Amino acid sequence: MDLAISYLGLRLDSPLVVGASPLADDLDDVRRLEDAGASCIVLRSLFEEQITREKYGTVYSLEIGDPADTEIISCFPKVHEFVLGPDEYLEHIRRIKETVGIPVIGSLNGINVGRWLEYGNLIEAAGADALELNVFFLATDPHETPIAVEKRTTDLARALKRRLHIPLAVKLSPFYSSLIHLARELEASGVDGLVLFNRFYQPLAGARSGPAAAPVRLSDSSELPLRLRFSKILSGTLKGADLAVSGGVHTSVDVIRSVIAGASAVQVVSALLENGPQYLRVLREGMESLLARKGYRSLDELKASLCADPFPDPQAHSRASYMQLLQRWSA
Ligand SMILES: Cc1cc2nc3c(=O)[nH]c(=O)nc-3n(C[C@H](O)[C@H](O)[C@H](O)COP(=O)(O)O)c2cc1C
Repeated sequence: MDLAISYLGLRLDSPLVVGASPLADDLDDVRRLEDAGASCIVLRSLFEEQITREKYGTVYSLEIGDPADTEIISCFPKVHEFVLGPDEYLEHIRRIKETVGIPVIGSLNGINVGRWLEYGNLIEAAGADALELNVFFLATDPHETPIAVEKRTTDLARALKRRLHIPLAVKLSPFYSSLIHLARELEASGVDGLVLFNRFYQPLAGARSGPAAAPVRLSDSSELPLRLRFSKILSGTLKGADLAVSGGVHTSVDVIRSVIAGASAVQVVSALLENGPQYLRVLREGMESLLARKGYRSLDELKASLCADPFPDPQAHSRASYMQLLQRWSA
């Protein structure tokens, strides 16, 4: 069964991408992921604050060592608390590229345009095949308008894209007032793909962050429908940027549903942390048998058959489904 797809201009053996996480921290694990069928690997993120603190002695525009800024700076992990420092990150990419043949995607995570974006170039020079930008930003300033919040993301993506020769994907959160508009702006800025979505690790209100906070809760398939809905809407709206679903992909049915919703690739993390790299084989075999049962010989054939099935007006469809659901409920 031919499951090959194209994502960010990379020809991948299947849509099964390993998402940004600790899964690729160890070279033996990276080998195991490739052997089990990973078509591409996204590395854990290198953070803006981590780079600026270690390399330039600042966090945002705050100087390390300035007593006035000590409290805010002390919220952030210390240099030694990061699993990979900026230099180690670059070395890790070089070593992974020597170890496996599948494409490797670096990940930067930040919220401000600045000198730290030079790490995009360094990640490229280290051999990454593409870069993912994660804009993990919670809008809390009552004076910052929705337009300014969106502009933060587009400015960052544009500044990074201008520096790069490799493709760039942006990993978004679902919490924008007009996600579709933002996606089109990002595409117009030259972004090659969008990853739907970031997961927010939601602490209880009032709970402190830091090591004492609740551990990361892994996902389950119930997180998928939000991604599928926006993938379907965006795939009908964007002109060429690729989509990857990240969040709630746990079964081969989840993968096929994501492809049907217009995603080129899925990024799997929780299912692999729970079940190990071998689980990629289960996902692949499940996809093959599902497609074969329906008479398809390739994923491309499935996609071609879906082109004849355009999504109805998403606005009307969304309100109509909502009303029907509420009316049909019975105890
Ligand atoms: C332990 C852990 C570490 C993660 N680290 C990163 C990271 O460094 N950068 C990033 O963009 N996403 C990170 N993520 C988010 C995943 O890439 C992914 O978007 C999220 O887990 C949803 O996918 P899933 O449902 O398959 O777990 C991490 C997730 C987990 C569970």
